[in-house]
Parts: sequence; C-alpha cells; structure tokens
Amino acid sequence: MLDRLIARLRSATRVTVMTGAGVSAASGVPTFRGAGGLWRTFRAEDLATPQAFARDPSLVWEWYEWRRATIASCTPNAAHGVLAQWTRESPHCTVITQNVDDLHLRAGTERLVRLHGSIWELACWQRCGTPRWRDERVPLPSRPMTCPSCGSLARPGVVWFGESLSPADLDAASAACSCDVFIAVGTSAIVYPAAGLLQEARSRGAFTAEINVEPTAASSAVDAAIQGGAETVLPEIAARLQVR
Ligand code: APR
Repeated sequence: MLDRLIARLRSATRVTVMTGAGVSAASGVPTFRGAGGLWRTFRAEDLATPQAFARDPSLVWEWYEWRRATIASCTPNAAHGVLAQWTRESPHCTVITQNVDDLHLRAGTERLVRLHGSIWELACWQRCGTPRWRDERVPLPSRPMTCPSCGSLARPGVVWFGESLSPADLDAASAACSCDVFIAVGTSAIVYPAAGLLQEARSRGAFTAEINVEPTAASSAVDAAIQGGAETVLPEIAARLQVR
C-alpha cells in the first residue's frame, strides 16, 4: 500500500492532504473519537453547538479555555513538519485541516485551509460585523470575553456542529480536490462536509489514500489505506521520496 502511494506521489503534480485530530495526537492534543477521544467523556451537544453556547456561555468558554491551555503546551510533530515542507517546496501542494489547534501554521504550512476555524481566534456572538480577532492569551483575561466593537459576548472562532463552513474555505477545499493524489491523515472521516472531500477528489480522478492508526469509515473507499501513526508514516514517505 505504501509503495503504491509513494509511486503515485513521485509522478504527481498536485497533491492535497486533508488532516484531522490524529495528526496532532503525537503532539499531545486529544482527539475527539477513538481511544481517549474527547467525545467519550464530554457531550458535543453540551459544548460544541450554538445552542450550548446560548444556554451556558461560561461552561462552553471553560471547556475552550481548558483546550487552549492544553494546546498551548503542545508543539508541532514530525507529521506537521513534513506537510509544511511539502507546501513550501511546491505551490501545488495544499493542506486542508479540520483542526483548530493551528499546529500546521506553527510548523510553517503555506496556503493552509482551516475548515473549522481556529481556537486562537474569537468572534462576536451577535455578528456585529467586526472581523474575527486573534487572542493567544492563556488564560484569557475575562470570562466570558466580549466583542471589542459592540461589547456583546465573544465566542470561540471555531465552527460548531450545525454551523456552516466559510464559503471561501469550502471553495478553496473543493478546488484542491482537483488533484493527482489526495491523502486523508488522522481523521475518522465521518464529519461532513470535510469527509465528502475525499469522495469529491476520487470522483475527479485522484488517487486516494488514508493514513490512520485504525480503520475508518473511509478505509474501504480509498485506493491505499495505510495503518500507522501520521508522525512516523509521513516522515517515512518523505524520506523515501528523496531517494530517486
Ligand atoms: N496518526 C494517525 N491517525 C491517528 C493517530 C496518529 N498518531 N492517533 C489517532 N488517529 C486517528 C484516530 O484513529 C481517528 O480515526 O485520528 C482520528 C481522529 O478522529 P476524530 O477524533 O474524529 O477527529 P476528526 O476526524 O478530525 O474529527 C472531525 O469532528 O468533533 C469534530 O470539529 C471536530 O474537527 C473535528 C471533527
């Protein structure tokens, strides 16, 4: 399987990689599903929906502050490093991520598409029109935070269940599905519309692969399902691509 993927990568011009929580697992960021996943302990409906925030903003902020503190102590791992290097080496390599931890950015990834926003950004809950703003302070100085323009509640700048993705991000992700090789890394591939991108790429003729420590919803649909940690498989691929 790995040999097939490497052969395709050697001849590919356009390569798209879509990542999920598993790519940051080796950095110490908890995943949502699978062993130790956050959704085994917490209910997404209580913490990651607009309804939950409307009901109890302090509780939702408490959970995001806890995650911000966890992520603040994490650093990019070898998988982030390889992907960042690929984007620097080729303008035809695109990374799309569902992660809000910004570890791809910290690794230096170029042209990153962040489908679910960033945990380091805040937005006005009343949508007063002020653009999202970045605030990396841990802990934040007040809870809940307020919008600097209109004074109403501020919310985490992430996409919650039941919310739409930014049209610009979706367009960029969809455009990146026109590629020669599409690799899904460390995602359970069950949350749409992200999960649909793999099918979109496949229907447009891409060779599709996944890298995951366990089988997923996408394993039977991809051309190459590679079992292993992103932090070991991606560096191995990168090393073998350098040997001609
Ligand atoms: N390397 C590769 N894959 C790994 C590793 C690793 N070291 N560790 C765990 N995994 C895999 C797990 O087997 C699992 O399939 O990563 C996947 C993580 O899946 P999820 O936790 O469901 O994360 P993701 O697919 O990114 O979730 C999508 O759901 O809760 C929402 O908005 C949240 O963006 C998130 C979305």
